[in-house]
Amino acid sequence: MSSWGSACGKLILFGEHAVVYGHPAIAVALSKETEVILDPRPGPTRLVDSWIQDDRLDQLLQKALPAEGLAVRIRSEIPTGRGLGSSAALCVALIRARAALQNREASLEEIHEEGFALERVFHGTPSGIDHAVAARGGALYYRKDSEPEALQMPPMPAVILDSGKAGNTAELVAKVARARPQVTPALNQLGEFADIARENLSDFHLIGDLMIEAHALLKSIGVSTQELDELVALAMRHGALGAKLSGAGGGGVVVALVPEDPEPLLQAALHRGIQAFACTLPRS
Ligand code: MEV
Repeated sequence: MSSWGSACGKLILFGEHAVVYGHPAIAVALSKETEVILDPRPGPTRLVDSWIQDDRLDQLLQKALPAEGLAVRIRSEIPTGRGLGSSAALCVALIRARAALQNREASLEEIHEEGFALERVFHGTPSGIDHAVAARGGALYYRKDSEPEALQMPPMPAVILDSGKAGNTAELVAKVARARPQVTPALNQLGEFADIARENLSDFHLIGDLMIEAHALLKSIGVSTQELDELVALAMRHGALGAKLSGAGGGGVVVALVPEDPEPLLQAALHRGIQAFACTLPRS
């Protein structure tokens, strides 16, 4: 009999990179999922089907699963390297599928602790925000080493614009680490924005302004790219109240807050060959 686990992707609204240094961040669940299916098979545990080819998957399965007896299938709607939490969703789905194999549900504590261990396969020093959202869903105010706080927020109409390039989270986190202490004031401010946003989530004009400032700060610490800056500018020319890169940067996506009609922005993206989709954050 098959055992199955799934988890959702995430989008960081405020506080990426700052969260690695103990500052708060706000992240929301995205309506894109990863599924892991485990079936009995004779012999060693094997990956038989996956949505990506990645050498790190074997290492991940070795860490997470028994060495013998399983065929592993992974399906996902979450593009990789886009700051959308694909690796955390995979880790959480894997922990859930393994618990299902033992006829039980994985606890949040188990997911939290093991999520860290497994996500290290993908990047060295995860803050834990990605797997916290993958495990809990909704909107979270997150601070490393504290219990995540579920946030009530009005549905936020957004457009996600894909730069088409993958960013490497481990490399970008290391780059920011090397740039300290020069970037410390910017990291402090990015954390402060998460606190201001938490108190003003229904004030879309303020949130939009904060997004623009957050993007400028992320650019100043060296994690934006020309493509991401151009996507922010495109969003602002087509009805967004604010836009910023989301996640580690170096590629990945821009999130734009678009409370009115998203069509002009979606059309402008389409004409330029940019992948984009409208959504409501967090997913309902
Ligand atoms: C990655 O989604 C967000 C970063 O802040 C890294 C982390 O929190 O682990 C860049």
